[in-house]
Formats: sequence, structure tokens, C-alpha cells
Amino acid sequence: MRFVGKAGLITAAASGMGRAGAMRIAAEGGKVAVVDRDAAAAEAVVAEITKAGGTAIAIAADLRDLDVAAGIVAQTVDTFGQLDFAWNHLGHPGPSKVEGMDEDLFQLSFDINVRSVIATTQAALPEMRNAGGGALLYTSSSAGLIGSRYSPSYSLMKHGIVGWTKALALKYAAENIRANVVCPGSIDTPMFTAFGARPDQDPRTPEEIRATTTAGIPMRRLGQPEEVGAAAAFLLSGDASFITGAVLPIDGGFVAQ
Ligand SMILES: NC(=O)c1ccc[n+]([C@@H]2O[C@H](COP(=O)([O-])OP(=O)(O)OC[C@H]3O[C@@H](n4cnc5c(N)ncnc54)[C@H](O)[C@@H]3O)[C@@H](O)[C@H]2O)c1
Repeated sequence: MRFVGKAGLITAAASGMGRAGAMRIAAEGGKVAVVDRDAAAAEAVVAEITKAGGTAIAIAADLRDLDVAAGIVAQTVDTFGQLDFAWNHLGHPGPSKVEGMDEDLFQLSFDINVRSVIATTQAALPEMRNAGGGALLYTSSSAGLIGSRYSPSYSLMKHGIVGWTKALALKYAAENIRANVVCPGSIDTPMFTAFGARPDQDPRTPEEIRATTTAGIPMRRLGQPEEVGAAAAFLLSGDASFITGAVLPIDGGFVAQ
């Protein structure tokens, strides 16, 4: 029960890894704001948490709109009285092309992968400072550590999130605000399928992509969202009280190759 007396928010928490992290933290006593564009799915996660005896609220927000960042932090603090942790998990695969890049898609992915992360962090920091500390967590990717030929712009932005995390760790360490980043490999969520669905660039079927991806992972399987949720809960918990600026691959050994 590492999160008793703690409260915070998770973005993109209605599905996949964010959902798994919300469930795990709530199961350990934390109060969680489930932030997602999909209001019904966010409410469903809250219902699951509540049924299991936990405490959560759903906040429906399209994080592409930078103005919502302050609102989601304010709603979390208004409801729970504090903000001890914030996991900026939302991301976007971005355009696959370099030449002939879809500029609108690039802008959408930049707004989500970078701008929304900055805006949410800006809103969270004063609350954590007022509370005497806090824990920030970001989601990069194995494509934030090595190149992804499927989306160079995704690699650009996810490498950026790693740098952002390290810089924040230094900038706010003296205020007891920690910043860490998880780098998932191939995790079995809807986003994994979306990332591979680039018929203009890659003629393979989704099944072929899944099979070749799995074959390239040393542990020979995709990761499960709960495996990332567990790592996120650790980094956000007091068990990680002296860990800041850490960059954690969760990928079955993929980037160790
Ligand atoms: N799944 C993978 O294989 C993988 C690998 C590496 C990194 N990642 C990263 O993990 C994160 C995605 O996690 P997932 O795979 O658990 O996702 P997912 O596909 O399971 O869920 C994504 C959630 O984001 C929500 N969402 C989408 N756009 C939104 C917006 N504009 N505002 C608010 N909510 C929005 C969706 O409604 C959905 O609930 C991203 O940062 C991604 O880059 C994923």
C-alpha cells in the first residue's frame, strides 16, 4: 500500500499502460485522476477502481488543447486536496514519412508528445512545490533510445522526452520533485497496433508485424500493460525516493541488443 495518503493524475489512463498504472496505484491506496479524451472509457476505469475499493475520478480532456492542462491539475487538487504524482503518459505515433511528411499529422503528434507534456508539467510543478515535493513520470519509448525507422519524428520527440526528464530531474531535485521516464518497447495495447498500421510504408499485415516484432525481442513476447503499470507505480512511489533522472527501458531486452 505504497500510495496511502497520496493523490495524482495519469494521462491516457482509459486504456493500455495508463489504465494499468491507474489500477495498480489505486489498488495500493492512491487516489487517481484518470485523464483521457474518451470519457466513457475513463468512467469505466473509475468504475473498476471503485468496485475494487479504490478511489478515482474521471477527467475527460483532449490534451491536444493546451488550455486543459491547468484544468486537469486544478480538478485533481480540488477533488483530492493535493497532487503528489503526475504521469504524463499520452503519446502519438506521428507521421511515418520523412520526405513528403504529413505536416498536419506532425503538428498533431508534436502537440501531444511534446506541448501537452510541457503544459501539464507547468501546471503540476507549483502544486508539488507547495506540497514540499512530488513525483513526475514521463513515457518515452524504446524509440526514444534508439531510432525507429517507422516514425523518425516519433523518435525525435521521444528522445526529447528523455532529455526533458533528465533536465527536470536536475532543475527540481533540490525541491524534492523527482522526474523519471519509462521507455516501453512493444507493449500489447491499441497503440502498438496503430503504430504498425502504416500501409503506405509497410505492406505487412498486422499479424506479420506482430510476429516479426515478437521475434526481434530477446524475451520473444510483447510486454503487457500491467508490466509497465507496475514499473510506473514503483517510480512514482516512495520506494523510488532517491531515484530521479532515471531512464527505464521496459522492453524484454530490446534496446540491450
Ligand atoms: N504500446 C506500445 O507498444 C508503446 C511502446 C512505446 C511507447 N508507447 C507510448 O505509450 C503511450 C501510449 O500508451 P498505450 O499504448 O498504453 O496507449 P493506448 O493506445 O492503450 O491508449 C491511448 C489512450 O490515449 C487516449 N487519447 C488519445 N488521444 C488523446 C488526447 N488527445 N487527449 C487525451 N487522451 C487521448 C485514448 O483515448 C486512449 O485511451 C504513448 O506515450 C506511446 O508513445 C507505447
